[in-house]
Amino acid sequence: LRFLLLFGVFAITLILYFVKPKVEEVPSPIFVNVPTTSTTKPIFGIENFTEYIPGHLPLIITIPHGGHLFPPYIPDRVNNFPGVVKSNDINTQEIGKAVVELLGTKLKGRKPHVIINHLGRSKIDVNRPLKEGAEGNETEPSLTQLAWKDYHTFVAMAIKEVEEIFGRGLLIDIHGHGHPNNYIEIGYVLSSEVLSYPAKVINGDPSIPSESSIRALYARKSGTVSFDELLRGETTSLGGKLQSLGYDT
Ligand SMILES: *[C@@H]1O[C@H](CO)[C@@H](O)[C@H](O)[C@H]1NC(C)=O
Ligand SMILES: *[C@@H]1O[C@H](CO)[C@@H](O)[C@H](O)[C@H]1NC(C)=O
Repeated sequence: LRFLLLFGVFAITLILYFVKPKVEEVPSPIFVNVPTTSTTKPIFGIENFTEYIPGHLPLIITIPHGGHLFPPYIPDRVNNFPGVVKSNDINTQEIGKAVVELLGTKLKGRKPHVIINHLGRSKIDVNRPLKEGAEGNETEPSLTQLAWKDYHTFVAMAIKEVEEIFGRGLLIDIHGHGHPNNYIEIGYVLSSEVLSYPAKVINGDPSIPSESSIRALYARKSGTVSFDELLRGETTSLGGKLQSLGYDT
């Protein structure tokens, strides 16, 4: 993952997708020595605006904000309520593809599943609700509304495949950030306010883990680690592990 540093100001938002554990299931590692025989031929959505490259691993990489296509026949998004962002997360497609290739070489050809939105963010935002992310007129679905649905259909297909083969997996949603600090940000769908709370508060309120994207991981690990430790512990969190490898988070 050393190349991540080279790309400067980027962040990875992690959405950890785990199937509900069976009660009393002992957490066990997932073995990924799966055959590489299944197809990795890409599947395209309408107008090739979305692409799903099936993989072999219990890992799904989604790239919603790096689209390079800005066809003039697709109207720009016009809505401008607070929170609407229309600029791309630059180089996220390139980072995602580099991760896929790197994993392929390290894991003897085994690759993650990848879902890419190719339309620019001024045209579509597949990481927002349909109404905000894909505008249109009432009469018939717009091309961006169809592309938005393709993207989410592909994500659901990848999740189903991973669930069927492995029982659980990991989804990494790749994003960028707009500030100049060169560190890796890992997002678990928790607000900055929640993240400012001390460990006592974080561990004392069960609604905090249950609203985060690592809730299923926590459910499997809660016997051995507190939620605060899973979130930001020096040796027990992903951010802590990255830092111990020399990456700023
Ligand atoms: C979509 O991509 C495929 C494969 O590259 C190509 O054959 C096809 O013509 C493209 N379709 C459109 C609508 O661009
Ligand atoms: C909706 O209709 C208006 C008027 O015909 C048009 O200018 C606009 O581009 C349409 N929007 C979409 C998203 O198709």
